[in-house]
Amino acid sequence: MRIAISTGGGDAPGLNAVIRAVVLAALRRGWEVVGIRRGFGGLLGEELDLVPLGRRDVRGITHLGGTILGTTNRGNPFRWPTQQPDGTWIEVDRSDELIARFREHGLGALIMVGGDGSLRIGHDLWRKGLPMVGVPKTIDNDVGGTVITFGYDTAVTTATEAIDKLHSTAESHDRVMVVEVMGRNAGWIALNSGLAGSADVILIPEIPYDIEKVCDKVREREAQGRHYTIVVVAEGAVPRDGAVTLKEKAGLGTVDRLGGVGEQVAAEVERRTGKETRSLTLGHLQRGGSPTTFDRLLALRFGAAAVRAIAEGGYGRMVASDPPGISTVPIAEALSRAKRVPLDSDTVLTARELGVCLGD
Ligand code: F6P
Repeated sequence: MRIAISTGGGDAPGLNAVIRAVVLAALRRGWEVVGIRRGFGGLLGEELDLVPLGRRDVRGITHLGGTILGTTNRGNPFRWPTQQPDGTWIEVDRSDELIARFREHGLGALIMVGGDGSLRIGHDLWRKGLPMVGVPKTIDNDVGGTVITFGYDTAVTTATEAIDKLHSTAESHDRVMVVEVMGRNAGWIALNSGLAGSADVILIPEIPYDIEKVCDKVREREAQGRHYTIVVVAEGAVPRDGAVTLKEKAGLGTVDRLGGVGEQVAAEVERRTGKETRSLTLGHLQRGGSPTTFDRLLALRFGAAAVRAIAEGGYGRMVASDPPGISTVPIAEALSRAKRVPLDSDTVLTARELGVCLGD
């Protein structure tokens, strides 16, 4: 058997650990593994870019961030950005061509490592006859059907370290510091890094915020002689009666780019309270660096489980964290419910009980 692996969408720490586990587990079964570079770019791009992956190619990569296969956010074969002779760009459905090329190269199955966007593509390809197994990946932790995704623990750790550092500078200057973290429409990174980093205010997409409540918290601390405040804002946080803040609308083959809510919150807090306020966006720092031990282990287990799923013919499914084990779930089922922070979760309750302002 000859199998392929691709990594699509935004990178997440742990991707290389998945690749290593897939290669080693497949080799032990006597299979060959081929990496498709840059999402599906390696099959549909101008030049074929398939790399045979052997034991040597995956040596010493478990601890490395990024992906040795490269990735792309513009890798949807159903909506492939294509330049016209007149220079304009259009989206073209090249899924049939992709499946044909896959077969031409003697590939028997595909392991597709990706977030909800890539998994949706994988699922659609499977429905058209491509034997595929998904491995969920996102630092946002918002893919349904799995308790957790790899990359998330590393991102939360990075965000927590950043929040820890902000305390001393905020306190020295008697300032409000607003830090914007990733997570799209889910508040997992903001809530957990904010709680672990002792933030005073945490704004998550699941709880539309009232800016006056945020200002009240700043004033309350002021009255208590605490002249600084740390605010953590998820990039997808929305004001009551407001909309999500976009940096860029979706273009060809891409999705909306979120960002800017941290600056907005900072400007409004400064205007309403008169407190000097600064904001920063952690951005892609949260996606970089070496995966934590937790993420390495989860990624290795996901990789091995994906090979096992192929051996069992579990196509159209994705591997999932199902403590204490790893299971597989139909991709369609996982995608039917994005995983957002439940408002009655223990973490939300804990934040409230500790006096953290959640903006409501
Ligand atoms: O989904 C992961 C994520 O990091 C989001 O949190 C963020 O909104 C998005 O990707 C940014 O992606 P990029 O800048 O690579 O388009």
